[in-house]
Amino acid sequence: MSQRVYIFDTTLRDGEQVPGSQLTTDEKITIAKELEKLGVDVLEAGFPISSPGDFRSVVEISKAVREPIICALSRAVKGDIDAAGEALKYAKRGRIHTGLGSSDIHIQHKFNSTREKIVEQAVAAVKQAKSYVEDVEFYCEDAGRADLAFLAHLVQSVIAAGATVVNIPDTTGYCFPDEYGNKIKYIFEHTDNVHQAIISIHCHNDLGLATANTLAGVMNGARQVEVTMNGIGERAGNTSLEEVVMALKVRPEMGYHTNVNTPLLFPTSQLVSKMMRMPVQANKAIVGRNAFAHSSGIHQDGFLKNSLNYEIMNPHDVGVDKSMIILTARSGRHALKHRLELLGFSFDKPTLDVVYQQFLEVADIKKEVNDGDLVELAKVLIEA
Ligand code: KIV
Ligand code: ZN
Repeated sequence: MSQRVYIFDTTLRDGEQVPGSQLTTDEKITIAKELEKLGVDVLEAGFPISSPGDFRSVVEISKAVREPIICALSRAVKGDIDAAGEALKYAKRGRIHTGLGSSDIHIQHKFNSTREKIVEQAVAAVKQAKSYVEDVEFYCEDAGRADLAFLAHLVQSVIAAGATVVNIPDTTGYCFPDEYGNKIKYIFEHTDNVHQAIISIHCHNDLGLATANTLAGVMNGARQVEVTMNGIGERAGNTSLEEVVMALKVRPEMGYHTNVNTPLLFPTSQLVSKMMRMPVQANKAIVGRNAFAHSSGIHQDGFLKNSLNYEIMNPHDVGVDKSMIILTARSGRHALKHRLELLGFSFDKPTLDVVYQQFLEVADIKKEVNDGDLVELAKVLIEA
């Protein structure tokens, strides 16, 4: 039977940390409502201690968005947890996401601490967060570079303290997919109480492996994925929501599904891009301008014979109107004939050969030939 994977969206927290993408409370509410319609399970609304504006955003999103769990971030320190708990006061279902570094690099160079003290601080933070909300997620920051045995011990300790979800972030985007998958597997095999909590995946994209690592985590037992729309986030970004959701949907035989209403992916991507002033790269998987555009002659010919030849998903499934055939100097006769027919022109083979040669000349100059250019070419020939 297909297993449910929970979508934890952090567009408004990790995503919003991108320089230049900061949002006002009203803008955050607009995006949060779209994410609610999209069907995310958990919405990380902000980091309340970080600024009065972020505190206010968590409060207002808690009031305005009722379907997903509303989550607030905190470090494993008293003031942060108090602020997160306060900000979540109006949430129908609130979650505090607290945590601290788990790798020796972070323990020594960021916290100037020891493994023992880190476990104590972690347990105390979870207990304090539990005084505000039942649902507490603990993040083991930089778990991607943490010692496996220590990581399992930390996970065991925070679950015993009451954590309902434990996040194993690859904070620096360091891991390879097999390595990250094995890390999750190790946690399942070496943590006695692991089934009392959900294990969550949070990957960064420094090596372009965030989606691959996230899927490896799911294949090894994690049931929550932390993602952002368009993959925005610190440095090279976070795992992109649309990639993970569509990977699981396009390959149902892998045995996982989400609750995401996928035809809303493209409009949500556009909204986030516009409001956060972050253009989507043209070749971005799923939501990029070229994700359903075919431009070489070989591909266009195959696509026109049957879209299955070159498309693994229907554009409607992600909210894109239709696939596109882009006419360039690399296009073939089949694509040209098809487009001319759509424009109402039908030519016999010798005439089509002539149009094609003229088309190539225009394409070499213009790069992309549009419908207006084709109508001009066709009319000149008809009138000749
Ligand atoms: O990347 C990370 O480790 C984080 C944590 C705060 C969850 O964003
Ligand atoms: Zn992160």
